[in-house]
Amino acid sequence: MLKTRYTMNENLEKFKKEIEEKAGQITSPESLEEFRLYYLSRKGLLNDLFENLKTIDKSIKGSYGKALNDLKNFAMELFEVKSKDISKKTSKENKVEDFTLPGKTYNTGSKHLLTQALEDITKIFERIGFKLYEGPEIEDEYHNFDALNTPSYHPSRDMQDTFYIPGENKENRYLLRTHTSPGQIRIMENQQPPIRVIVPGKSYRNEAISSRSLSMFHQVEGLYVDKNVSFRELKGTLDYFAKEFFGKDIKIRLRPSFFPFTEPSAEMDVECFLCKSKGCRICKYTGWLEILGCGMVDPKVFEYVNYDPEIYSGFAFGMGLERTLLIRHGIPDIRMLYENDVRFLKQF
Ligand code: DAH
Repeated sequence: MLKTRYTMNENLEKFKKEIEEKAGQITSPESLEEFRLYYLSRKGLLNDLFENLKTIDKSIKGSYGKALNDLKNFAMELFEVKSKDISKKTSKENKVEDFTLPGKTYNTGSKHLLTQALEDITKIFERIGFKLYEGPEIEDEYHNFDALNTPSYHPSRDMQDTFYIPGENKENRYLLRTHTSPGQIRIMENQQPPIRVIVPGKSYRNEAISSRSLSMFHQVEGLYVDKNVSFRELKGTLDYFAKEFFGKDIKIRLRPSFFPFTEPSAEMDVECFLCKSKGCRICKYTGWLEILGCGMVDPKVFEYVNYDPEIYSGFAFGMGLERTLLIRHGIPDIRMLYENDVRFLKQF
């Protein structure tokens, strides 16, 4: 029957149009099957056209055959598209919602607790007028040590502590910064007082890895320089920070200490979160946990950056972020922060 519907010379374009039109009318599994039977089945139109190819004159056989192949592919593609549409449609129609099933939960990522803490700390200081500054992690000896009044014989320059970067320049070697304090120098070199900044970032020291130390850690540096800045402001600022970060009831204390770039210097402890100052294993039975070093900027440091120490004074502090987090959340081992165990991270 098919054979009578066309002649050999009939334009394949006509079929193409017809196929397209018929495919457009497919709306049900039945009409889809009709389409398949009529065009694509063994006894369908396309196969019939291929049968006829045998009788075609050799001179046009090649090009006609190719056109026929294209037509077949065209029909098959349309069929594929339509059968996907139909199966989507029918599966939707047949689906019955069971409202008694438990809801689906989706696993979403969240910020790492270090990132969260850095953001919290930044916000706390921004509220009292501090700006954010980030210095380079690859520093030179001048910014990391000299300008911070740390002479070349100071033990913190020891090869065992500092990761030096091999190179030609023996006068002012490059290194991985051992603290964020060089950020202080970089700001003061480029800006005049009043200055109120915090400098968060990574620091590096060649330390034996243990539950309390890693060779890479984060610090947050703070610097405040203006006329008439006194130790009282330092204490007030740190007290404000501790209450905002750890909670209103936290107690702090300042102990005299030494840093080459501050005079006088102090270390700040917060009350042990675990034993509330009674003494336990975490606080080594002292009742207190050390979280930062601080002090009044040494006049020698001001001289390095050409500030007049007779006019300006300032305070600085530097806090170890990892240790502070261990305290804030009661985490027993610093390495847990970097193992990326989702079961651990999910708790924060
Ligand atoms: N840079 C010191 C350290 O890494 C911490 C420190 C102490 C920073 C006193 C300061 C400061 O700004 O005033 O141990």
